[in-house]
This record gives sequence, C-alpha cells and structure tokens, in this order.
Amino acid sequence: MKSTLSWYKIAESREEIEFSPNGMAELEVSGKKICLGLHRDTLFACTHKCPHAGGILADGYLDASGNLVCPLHRYRFDPRNGRNVSGEGYFLKTFPLEIREEGVFIGIAGGSLFGG
Ligand code: FES
Repeated sequence: MKSTLSWYKIAESREEIEFSPNGMAELEVSGKKICLGLHRDTLFACTHKCPHAGGILADGYLDASGNLVCPLHRYRFDPRNGRNVSGEGYFLKTFPLEIREEGVFIGIAGGSLFGG
C-alpha cells in the first residue's frame, strides 16, 4: 500500500536553518525530532535516532563522501538513500525535502513519522 506524503514547512529558506559546525541540525516536525544535515550543497533529513542502538545522529558527523557517521559506534549511512554503507545491515529512514518558493518542506508518510 502506498502511503501519501504530508508536507511540513520547516524553514523559510535553507539559509535560515542553523547547522552546527558538524553540518548537522535537529528540529521538531509535528512533535517528532528529525535530524537534518548539509553536505556541500545538499540538504537531507532522516530520523533523529540511529537504527542500530539509538545514537543521536545530529551529534554525529558527515565524512568526506557525505556519509552520516553515528556518534555511538561509528556506523555509516548514506543519507540520500538510507543505506548502511559500513555494512552492518541496518537501514536509516530518510525523508524527502523540497525547496520551494514558499520555503523548505519535509515530506512525511501518512501522518506516522516512524511507522515504516
Ligand atoms: S547506535 Fe548508531 S552505530 Fe550504534
């Protein structure tokens, strides 16, 4: 079953989002925490907690290839597609982002943030 996306505005513009020096940011959308990252010019969004053991991904960092490195056990994820590029077999849930004239929007499936 294909669920529809609900779009939530997270900022007026990309420049408005404040990233830490590690290129990461955390924000709340519809009461849930989301991790945002910026690698070169590409913005991405994923779940706040690592799928391995709940590491706070906004406290991690981006390696030279743009992979998100979890601060707890250093597993690496490609934030463009959620692939666990260091090979442990986990999958990081990611969310689509759209930069529109009216602002930056995040797409979340079916009203349930983490349900699959
Ligand atoms: S909790 Fe993220 S790698 Fe273990």
